[in-house]
Amino acid sequence: MSSFDFSGKVALVTGGASGIGRACSELFAAGGARVVIADVNTTLAKRVAAELEAGGTEVLYVETDVADPAAVSVLLERTLARFGALHYAVNNAGIEGVSSPLAQTSIEDWHRVININLNAVFYCLREEIPAILQSGGGAIVNMSSVMGSVSAPGISPYVAAKHAVLGLTKTAAQEYSAQGLRVNAVCPGFIETPLVLKHLTEEVRAQALAMHPIGHLGRAEDVASTVAFLCSDHAAFVTGSAYGVDGGYLTI
Ligand code: NAI
Repeated sequence: MSSFDFSGKVALVTGGASGIGRACSELFAAGGARVVIADVNTTLAKRVAAELEAGGTEVLYVETDVADPAAVSVLLERTLARFGALHYAVNNAGIEGVSSPLAQTSIEDWHRVININLNAVFYCLREEIPAILQSGGGAIVNMSSVMGSVSAPGISPYVAAKHAVLGLTKTAAQEYSAQGLRVNAVCPGFIETPLVLKHLTEEVRAQALAMHPIGHLGRAEDVASTVAFLCSDHAAFVTGSAYGVDGGYLTI
């Protein structure tokens, strides 16, 4: 049961098969939306799609590498062909990349992280914006991070990409909000998803906990509920914002 009403709407989630994206797909479905999942992990995505369909949601899964602009065009074509409209988009797919000091970061790792975490957000925005405008308006949420405002050693491409996502978000908000399309970013702290759990030794967990004054790490659902709020009419005057969901991380 959702506190958000998305009935009659179409919501697209990139990276919608796992972690935060999966929780967003579930919350849109619970609110009555038709859901488009774009992901590279077909096994996981099909499982999530089947679960949502079993609950009565209409789901379209499009195997999509968001770092490939041609694939993103196909994603939007297939979305409009199936559902005839798009109202919400969550540009969430992302990777962390290889951890290394900046001077040891390979050109290949740099491009890989920038392509998936930044260029892909641009590729998605340029296809989603006209689709949402022609559907009568809606909202886009881009997934940044606390690393969009501060830094951490060893992940320079990730930090650079997440800062840049906030710049793209603000520009899109300035250009399109008057036409009924709000664009916001969400900036999570440490959220216990597969992306983070694979590095979460006891030592790293203790260090991470010390960075979150609230005393615990976040859940994917904590981020999804903020995404849903930002898409909903409850956030009708919210645009161009970088919304923290970080247990107080940025207060330290
Ligand atoms: P996750 O690893 O659980 O999920 C990421 C999803 O994106 C996966 O389903 C994966 O298959 C998909 N994906 C990866 N590359 C893709 C590509 N090229 N094209 C399409 N799909 C692709 O990760 P999580 O934690 O849910 O992360 C989601 C977003 O949230 C990312 O942008 C991440 O940077 C951001 N974030 C996560 C935080 C955390 O602590 N988990 C904190 C701050 C931001």
